[in-house]
Amino acid sequence: MAYSEKVMEHFANPRNVGEIENPDGVGEVGNPTCGDIMRMYIKVDGDKISDVKFMTFGCGAAIATSSMATELIKGKTIDDALKLTNRAVMEALDGLPAVKVHCSVLAEQAIKSAVSDYYKRRGIDPTPIVGEIPEAEHGHCAV
Ligand code: FES
Repeated sequence: MAYSEKVMEHFANPRNVGEIENPDGVGEVGNPTCGDIMRMYIKVDGDKISDVKFMTFGCGAAIATSSMATELIKGKTIDDALKLTNRAVMEALDGLPAVKVHCSVLAEQAIKSAVSDYYKRRGIDPTPIVGEIPEAEHGHCAV
């Protein structure tokens, strides 16, 4: 299994790791089958994501994709952040081995979950905006 240089670099030096104090939204997704959990914190200023941080128990591919995903949404509007797909994150990392594609779903869904929490805190039903957030497809993870 070969990882791209970008994946290795983001795995070795992940961006935006940690917690945000007094976040505007927190999302947590994961699957108990492989024990991999991702928590994402966002700070929102107007309609923009002014800060984002993550913590994960996921594997190296999950760390690299979350690092890249947070870089891609920081400073962007909530709408743009919701449009970010795991495919786009993988492309930005020059690809992932096929058996690791599912790891990248954690980051995409954690962003949606955090935005969903942001709307809920403001008394807004997030489902029409964010959609349903399914469980990450992780049942086959071999950690
Ligand atoms: Fe990669 Fe589950 S996140 S093995």
